[in-house]
Amino acid sequence: MRPPPRPGRKTGGFSLGILTLCLVAAGCLQSQGVSLYIPHSAINATVQEDILLSVDYYCHGVPTIEWKYTSNWGEQKIVEWKPGTQVNISESHKDRVCTFDNGSIQLFSVGVRDSGYYVITVTEHLGSSQFGSIVLHVSEIRYEDLHFVAVFIALLAAVAAVLISLIWVCNRCAYKFQRKRRHKLKESTTEEIELQNVEC
Ligand SMILES: *[C@@H]1O[C@H](CO)[C@@H](O)[C@H](O)[C@H]1NC(C)=O
Ligand SMILES: *[C@@H]1O[C@H](CO)[C@@H](O)[C@H](O)[C@H]1NC(C)=O
Ligand SMILES: *[C@@H]1O[C@H](CO)[C@@H](O)[C@H](O)[C@H]1NC(C)=O
Repeated sequence: MRPPPRPGRKTGGFSLGILTLCLVAAGCLQSQGVSLYIPHSAINATVQEDILLSVDYYCHGVPTIEWKYTSNWGEQKIVEWKPGTQVNISESHKDRVCTFDNGSIQLFSVGVRDSGYYVITVTEHLGSSQFGSIVLHVSEIRYEDLHFVAVFIALLAAVAAVLISLIWVCNRCAYKFQRKRRHKLKESTTEEIELQNVEC
């Protein structure tokens, strides 16, 4: 007599197979995800500076990269491109942006109005995507510049003080000189009068 089949063992093997399949599929899905690396998520800048919003990504195939700008005034698309193809830059940032293959963008000559959140979305051709953001703060004037202005004002004040004291000294001299002259004049006139008296 043949031993009865052992369905338990068989289904066990079957479910193990399915489990392995699932694991492999999960692994595949995971490796298809996009990973995004942002070294500096906050950047301080001053007006007129060129700013690199530096990122790097890893994914399968060629993704679509999109940068958006968000601030108190709303959201706005800056640029969208697939590395190696034509770059689509919005009107608002024409001639102010350049793109790099690693997803980074550079903003030229930033202004205070460029302060805000810059959100990057990297989308794989299969649809999975990853986003990250960089906050940019652009200030009007640097502390060193303020320091320079303070030193400049102090210098101006010093020069003004020197000029004022110089004018005061000159004034005093002129006054003394005039007094001396008047004195001399008086002396000479009295001499003349005396002389006249003698003549008489
Ligand atoms: C930017 O400036 C703020 C203060 O205004 C400061 O707290 C922050 O650490 C600065 N960040 C960098 C990256 O320099
Ligand atoms: C991305 O590329 C630019 C230009 O080559 C480089 O300056 C920047 O450091 C890169 N960013 C990262 C995170 O590697
Ligand atoms: C660039 O973007 C605009 C608006 O988003 C779109 O109408 C246009 O087709 C795009 N051009 C290219 C070459 O992708």
